[in-house]
Amino acid sequence: MRVDTAPKHAARSTSEWWRSAIIYQVYPRSFADSNGDGMGDLPGITSRMGSLASLGIDAIWLSPFMRSPQKDAGYDVSDYTDVDPLFGTLQDFDAMVSAAHAAGIRVLIDLVPNHTSSQHRWFQAALAAVEGSPEREFYHFKDGRGESGELPPNNWLSLFGGPAWTRTTNADGSLGQWYCHLFDSSQPDLNWENPLVQEAFEDILRFWLDRGVDGFRVDQPHAMGKAPGLPDHPDIERAGAGFIEGEPSPPMWFQESVHPIFRRWRAVLDSYEGERAMCGEAYVLPLSFMALWVRPDEFHQTFNFRFLDSEWNSQIIFETINESFAAFDAVGAPSTWVLSNHDVIRHASRMGGVKGRPTASDGIGPKSAQPDRELGLKRARAATLFTLALPGSMYLYQGEELGLPEHTTLADEFRQDPTFYRTGGVRVGRDGCRVPLPWEAGAGPANGFNSTGKAWLPQPEIYAEYSRDRQDGVQGSTLELYKLAIRLRKELKLGDGSFEWVPEFTNEKTLGFRNGEILVIHNFGSEPLQLPALKIVASSQNGLTLGATLSADQTVWLAV
Ligand code: NOJ
Repeated sequence: MRVDTAPKHAARSTSEWWRSAIIYQVYPRSFADSNGDGMGDLPGITSRMGSLASLGIDAIWLSPFMRSPQKDAGYDVSDYTDVDPLFGTLQDFDAMVSAAHAAGIRVLIDLVPNHTSSQHRWFQAALAAVEGSPEREFYHFKDGRGESGELPPNNWLSLFGGPAWTRTTNADGSLGQWYCHLFDSSQPDLNWENPLVQEAFEDILRFWLDRGVDGFRVDQPHAMGKAPGLPDHPDIERAGAGFIEGEPSPPMWFQESVHPIFRRWRAVLDSYEGERAMCGEAYVLPLSFMALWVRPDEFHQTFNFRFLDSEWNSQIIFETINESFAAFDAVGAPSTWVLSNHDVIRHASRMGGVKGRPTASDGIGPKSAQPDRELGLKRARAATLFTLALPGSMYLYQGEELGLPEHTTLADEFRQDPTFYRTGGVRVGRDGCRVPLPWEAGAGPANGFNSTGKAWLPQPEIYAEYSRDRQDGVQGSTLELYKLAIRLRKELKLGDGSFEWVPEFTNEKTLGFRNGEILVIHNFGSEPLQLPALKIVASSQNGLTLGATLSADQTVWLAV
């Protein structure tokens, strides 16, 4: 490992909040259910605001709660300016925002601009209108190929499996044009070349900013632009539904045409008081490409997918951190750090020694090899503590503060993710990381998620062991480790701090870096590591004392 040529990162003396924020992802369906119908809701979030505040986070990001037929868990929006009755009302939303602000927590909401629900009035109007009409111009409608238009207009594939095109049926029953959907057929892609679409979304931004939100997490912004004429993907065999890293943009991903749109959005946000911010889910790699999305007049942040996707080993994490600082520092943006979200296998399971898993969003089903829970939890705690000392902003996913594992034995009958259905069950999908949270062990069959025990996805029995009440105030618990690390991170200003590798501890077996006066060491090896005789500030290894050794898969923060 070449430490001498690795990038260093300088501390900042002043900071906008989003540069160093801890942003906690609330997945409303599974956070807390106030009315007992089995689906989490906004009043549920409000009722648990105290727990969020006690964690010490700066902001929450709410996955979609807008009106939706819920074909993709709300990422299929049918009305962007209303709350889905499943989650409550606009008044419930206002109350939730007020409670969050009163607790010193900012609120980011999910905006899904690449596609609407097929139930959205724009799409319904497009279906009812004739070919070539202004209504159809809201989406990508095209004639099929082949003698009678029986073949899709191009070779694009859906990320959820199958073709990215579905054929429509005309009012007289004859077969009509096809429409494009990079995700499920219930999620038609909008035509972002259309100025009416652009205007409509600026209004939507304002609607929520006026209601007091502190910003947005923007879904799939890199999918919004499409190459003119929607040509075939030139290398579909290699790229599948995605792209080949480092190669020029394929016709449906990261088109140049989207950047002026985000510059206008940035101007809208900047016209409001209070440092409103937006984070783009721009899955663009390498990070030097992604960094173009966080130039000073575009997004404030993007998710660091390289970090999320990285296997937890010293060489890969070394390279990933270097790539992150090099890319984001070059444009003056903070790097974000993230280990779990609602699309990937929870890191407490991902790190549990399961091999042969193609991608994290494929999930783990009952027929797959099962992760080692103890090992996974040990590594996850250490990985989180290591990551929380890095300068930049960090995203946490609800439940990871409990060390919650993936539900890896969910029966097929409960599955809801379209990935499962579109691949005939080959990819079990993402339901396993979306299961309702256990709050109080034994408080009803859903452990305090609600009082009735109903749950849109059933919890596995083991979830009681991880419930919040069993960890709150309990020394050494994962919850207390998170609280401590977040508090110290703030006190020591690590989020705005500096970064440099410490050569003595940077090798195949360990990684060590300094952020200001803190030395962070993670033991990736299998042997215990003798630590320098420095004060222990925090450790994932319970009971670690001065002079002791750091066990395998553990992290320590030391005061230099
Ligand atoms: C990314 C979201 O995180 C995921 O859950 C969703 O299925 C797709 N975008 C489509 O909106």
